[in-house]
Amino acid sequence: MSKSNRAHFGTKLGVILASAGSAVGLGNIWRFPYETGNHGGAAFILTYLGCVLILGAPIMIAEFLIGRRSRANTARAYQNLAPGTQWKWVGRMGVLTGFLILGYYSVVAGWTLEYTTQSVTNSFAGQDAEGFIALFGNFVANPWRPVLWMAVFMLATHFIVVRGVERGIEKASKVMMPMLFILLLILVACAVSLPNAGKGMEFLLKPDFSKVDGSVLLGAMGQAFFSLSVGMGCLCTYASYFKPDTNLGRTAFSVAVIDTMVAILAGFIIFPAAFSVGIQPDMGPSLLFITLPNVFQQAFGGLPWLAVLLSVMFYILLALAALTSTISLHEVVTAYLHEEFSMSRRKAAWLVTGGCTFLGVFCSLSLGVGKEYTLFGMTLFDLFDFVTAKIMLPLGGFFISLFAGWYLDKRVLWEEITNRGTLKVQLYRLIVFILKFIAPIGIAFIFINELGLI
Ligand code: TRP
Repeated sequence: MSKSNRAHFGTKLGVILASAGSAVGLGNIWRFPYETGNHGGAAFILTYLGCVLILGAPIMIAEFLIGRRSRANTARAYQNLAPGTQWKWVGRMGVLTGFLILGYYSVVAGWTLEYTTQSVTNSFAGQDAEGFIALFGNFVANPWRPVLWMAVFMLATHFIVVRGVERGIEKASKVMMPMLFILLLILVACAVSLPNAGKGMEFLLKPDFSKVDGSVLLGAMGQAFFSLSVGMGCLCTYASYFKPDTNLGRTAFSVAVIDTMVAILAGFIIFPAAFSVGIQPDMGPSLLFITLPNVFQQAFGGLPWLAVLLSVMFYILLALAALTSTISLHEVVTAYLHEEFSMSRRKAAWLVTGGCTFLGVFCSLSLGVGKEYTLFGMTLFDLFDFVTAKIMLPLGGFFISLFAGWYLDKRVLWEEITNRGTLKVQLYRLIVFILKFIAPIGIAFIFINELGLI
């Protein structure tokens, strides 16, 4: 495709919202709370914030500049900027990572649809914490329902991706993001006023640094990459649709702030509520789905219609937030197939949809009928999550920072970050320093530390 034909995002706000739409999703509202719960609370959150600041945000800038400079899908981007080198493998690994993430992410996205319909039919009414645990357990163990919802979700993603960048992705993000934010604020207010919510607040706010070990560091780093959509060329692909006057640094900063706020708000809903009704914080992937229905039931027990209304709205918005993320993952792989193998966008999109649905079936079944089959002690679902979030994304981030910090000409960095000198970027030197030294050394340290070599 010739450069001038490539699609663009329409407006500046559209750029931020689409990138934030990619970043904000199940990673913030589903994954962040359960990782926080698994890793002991406040100390994990602080470690996570550190990772966002010194790894995630700078590498996001690197992805942006690689994408906008090359104006190509993520694999081609490296070939454009580093012709004849092996850097293209960073892009290719990113495409594979995106494919694998979509494979299990769509399963959880499907759960949000089930919970939407359960809310509509008011089947949560009168349940207690035990009831919600059983409800979730029965649902994921069912061989059909979660698989069907996953497929529905993949199809929805498919059709938006086929409609193209501006009409589909940008429009969708513009309305949903602000609505989701407001609803989260309402739910925080409800959750913190539940009886015994204080213990949950303590869990979130009182760090116990003796708990920070290799697995906390790795978990926090993985969560930072996952939540910001960084490390596999997702934002690199989006940046290839940015305009020349998009301020890359500011966009990255805005996305990181929005993304982090949503995650923290989710934490302030889940933990006060979980402690209030006696749900263990380390329940793992089921945490959101067994805790949240309690908030609606407990806080609005006297006003059942309000409980139904708010929970329907919440699950719809959660599904939509997941959708703007699955779109971005799908787009990476679709753009790659479309541009590299000169197949039509439609055909490329069908291949991705088919392949991910196939993976999704196995990931979904691995939580129910296939529970016995584990690899390294993990179900297929957990294995996909572990390998992508905790290994492939940080590894991608490692190479992206090396590429931007060491391989690319300093002039390219300067031109892209300052828009050819038209912007004053105060932190310019710091950003370059982080990309050169802090990010690669930090990631390497966390990997080596987790392997127990230090
Ligand atoms: N960041 C999204 C979330 O938090 C998920 C996601 C979308 C993602 N694109 C990605 C994760 C690229 C890693 C890489 O839900």
